[in-house]
Amino acid sequence: MAQRLLISGAVLFIGLASTGTALAGQPTASDHPAVTFTKDIAPILQRSCQTCHRPDSVAPMSLLTYQQARPWARAMKMRTSLGPRAGVMPPWYVEKNIGIQRYKNDPSLSEDDIAKIAAWADSGAPEGNPADMPAPLDWKSAAWSLGEPDLITVLPDITVGATAPDWWGEIETTPVGITEDRYVAALEIKEINDVDPAVRSRDTVGGRFIYHHMIWSTRVVGDDTEEDEEQVRGTSTGWPVHEVGRNADIFDEKAGRKLSANSSVVSNSLHLHSNGRDTTGHLEIAWKFHPEGYEPEYRRVGRGLGNALDIDIRPMQANQELHAYSVLQQNQKISTFEPHLHAPGQRMCLEAIWGMNIETLTCVGYDHNWVRTYEYEDDYAPLLPKGTIMHIVGYMDNSPSNRNIPDPRNWQGSGNRSVANMFIDLGLGVQLSDEQFIEEMAQRRVKLQIGPNDHVIGCPLCAVEDIELPEEYERRPEATEEDDAEADDGDEPDTDEADEVTTRPSNR
Ligand code: HEC
Repeated sequence: MAQRLLISGAVLFIGLASTGTALAGQPTASDHPAVTFTKDIAPILQRSCQTCHRPDSVAPMSLLTYQQARPWARAMKMRTSLGPRAGVMPPWYVEKNIGIQRYKNDPSLSEDDIAKIAAWADSGAPEGNPADMPAPLDWKSAAWSLGEPDLITVLPDITVGATAPDWWGEIETTPVGITEDRYVAALEIKEINDVDPAVRSRDTVGGRFIYHHMIWSTRVVGDDTEEDEEQVRGTSTGWPVHEVGRNADIFDEKAGRKLSANSSVVSNSLHLHSNGRDTTGHLEIAWKFHPEGYEPEYRRVGRGLGNALDIDIRPMQANQELHAYSVLQQNQKISTFEPHLHAPGQRMCLEAIWGMNIETLTCVGYDHNWVRTYEYEDDYAPLLPKGTIMHIVGYMDNSPSNRNIPDPRNWQGSGNRSVANMFIDLGLGVQLSDEQFIEEMAQRRVKLQIGPNDHVIGCPLCAVEDIELPEEYERRPEATEEDDAEADDGDEPDTDEADEVTTRPSNR
């Protein structure tokens, strides 16, 4: 109990520390007196906004040209300066004053960019010299954030009526369209539907989409005979859950996932949710492969943090905390952090507790319209020894200031609908043998020039040079193909590791 109190005390402290926003020396609008669209703003929009704010993407207006952006100057200032919380543009919520700051595909704006947009809006949004305008980006070939996919799998269309209730069920099994085994480096899923983004949608959770989640796997689908089952075994791979507004998955370079020849996309847990108008749409899966001949070195592993069964959220109150813990059974490289909350979710933090250290790895705001997975850059991914206690803290806002909540006067419990609650970290890691763990740290020491007195967030042993293993040390065998197949057996995706310790319902 004393331990528990100590821990939540530390969390409270971190929570307070990270809400202070007025940092000394932060750039302000007055630092940018002569900001123009062509010289200063267009490059920011190209980097962080146009992937959505262009024709044929998800945002309500395009921000490609001066004429298109000019009327939105004040709104851009407002939406880029909200800090890491629901409503901010671009939708990316890592808190920049705590924890690890290096993530793959991070579209967020620097303080300087934010100040430039503010200065531009405040000075009448001038166009500037047309010669300064950067060449337009070619969005046809950059339709996917991962670049040109190696393969796109198109799932069948589904129609959801304007007043249809939530629906959970199976999808029609669909061939992936692959005839050889390949290892997947990254994937991205998009919902393509007939909603006109220019027409304002309902302002509730996931206002423009109908697919709220798909828990899915790929495998060869046989004819259900026993022989066939034998053959099909080992072709099954679970993939990260698709959720509304979710960004792409990039797997650990050494832990690519197998996509078996002639496999199909299979799911018995699709969640459809009406967006308030008759909508027809489908999912598209874009795959990026490793080169032929690639073999994975590491085995992936989940953290089993959190659940969706015993949540208790009081009415009319923001900042309500939920806590969950799990102990790493193996050395782990933490590849991603993925808060899974629902409409009341406001923020989540991931901590590692190791010996006397309690360290915040990442804190992020949360908006259920934009589910984000945060992928640590390879040289900054936490490297944690077995025995580390992983801790997540969820902050729930069931008050009138959260516009995702239908009625904050109601108590809320757990449930599958987006307006009920979940509290899970769906993040992934890879399991490391002691030798691999020591080797990863040694490489990082050289690459980042870590000295014996340096502190590295998320790597408590990185600064220690000569870690020796006792001679009779029991070693865990390295991952094999069979292990992988075993882990993937059955329908469940990654999140099934979590089920062993958390007993949560299979539908999300
Ligand atoms: C991942 C997709 C995405 C990215 C990236 C993105 N936006 Fe948006 N933006 C949207 C969507 C969708 C909406 C409409 C829903 C909403 O208001 O949240 C929106 C809304 C807005 C609005 C409010 C429009 C209104 O009707 O009031 C502004 C302003 C805006 N974005 C500016 C930006 C700027 C500036 C950037 C880059 C710094 C950016 N957005 C990046 C998807 C995106």
